[in-house]
Amino acid sequence: MILCFSGTGNSRYVAQLLSERLGDEVVMLDRELYDSPILHTGDRLIWVYPIYSWGTPPVVRSVMTRLKTDRDDTHHFMVATCGDDIGDAASMWRRDMARRHWNAVGAYSVIMPNTYTLMKGFDVDSPEVAARKVADATARVDTIARAITAGVRTDDCTRGKWAWFKTAIIYRWFVAHDMSPKPFHATDSCTGCGTCARTCPLDNITMRDGMPHWGDTCALCLGCYHSCPCHAVAYGKATRDKGQKTIL
Ligand SMILES: Cc1cc2nc3c(=O)[nH]c(=O)nc-3n(C[C@H](O)[C@H](O)[C@H](O)COP(=O)(O)O)c2cc1C
Repeated sequence: MILCFSGTGNSRYVAQLLSERLGDEVVMLDRELYDSPILHTGDRLIWVYPIYSWGTPPVVRSVMTRLKTDRDDTHHFMVATCGDDIGDAASMWRRDMARRHWNAVGAYSVIMPNTYTLMKGFDVDSPEVAARKVADATARVDTIARAITAGVRTDDCTRGKWAWFKTAIIYRWFVAHDMSPKPFHATDSCTGCGTCARTCPLDNITMRDGMPHWGDTCALCLGCYHSCPCHAVAYGKATRDKGQKTIL
């Protein structure tokens, strides 16, 4: 089984490629699974999710902590998608697996178009760079699928510079101080079409009086921001003059 969390489709795209190669069913981490995390994991569970601030998204870690499974001999794999690099996120995943006494086998990363636009200096990739990353992902997934089939016990990830510092220090700070949904709002360009609400994987957006309202169960996945056909979703002033990424 492939358990996938995805905000803007990169991880879903990779999960589907893996599914085509391995034959494993894709189960999306949605609000229902988040509220009631129960799975028949089978022989193998592949965790596919985006990297947030060089670590695992808190919503995914929450499911890892609470997941009820029928098997304790399942082989677990991580396939993390990222815009650039994942820091020491493989070690974080291995520690989370160890806490559950689960068998963590291989950890892999796949570089995909960047989605993070909420800080100075961070924006989406140019269309050319985004297209090249998506094209390169196919060969990368082929390699990962072969390694998963062989059951290779390895970490094959793009860690980048200062990997330990980014995951141990910046991730913790980011989760504590920089993940609030409160700055989300709709600008005057909003037509009330509801695309943001339909895209949100955690059903955290409700439409009231033709305008979106954000609740507290937000992964900060930016699905709402990137999917808006009018570019009308904003996060405080951070998204001013920032681009949108195509939802895959
Ligand atoms: C809150 C947030 C934090 C992110 N942090 C990182 C990061 O530390 N390193 C990185 O390379 N990409 C980072 N990204 C980019 C995503 O990991 C990447 O674009 C991923 O493929 C998105 O997957 P999705 O479309 O399935 O949501 C971040 C994106 C978001 C929304």
